[in-house]
Amino acid sequence: MQRKDLIKDEQVGEFIPVARKDEIPEGKGRVIKVKDKSVALFHVTGRFYAINNICPHQGGPLGKGKVKGHLVTCPWHDLQFDIRNGFGADGGGNGVGCYEVRVEGDQVYVCLQTKDVWAL
Ligand code: FES
Repeated sequence: MQRKDLIKDEQVGEFIPVARKDEIPEGKGRVIKVKDKSVALFHVTGRFYAINNICPHQGGPLGKGKVKGHLVTCPWHDLQFDIRNGFGADGGGNGVGCYEVRVEGDQVYVCLQTKDVWAL
């Protein structure tokens, strides 16, 4: 294997099967465990998004929050996050990690390597 191939493999990371598409209704989220991480997986307008489930305020479960458009509202104290990139919607610097998602057939996969949000 050449050095160029090794770098490419490290950048892609491992995609782990986490759910079937039909397990998460449109406009909803779900808390899933991926290895040792708690991840919030969302299904919005036919696409799937994954962010860290743990709210940076006091640890509320973002996967159980209400989703409106691309914003999820933390169920504990109402901070909002963009499910496409994990950015806090209040502009105050809050944010959570965001992960790559792939769908193949009926299966949804998540890669725990943090997504490059600037590529959106
Ligand atoms: S724990 Fe999420 S807003 Fe407080």
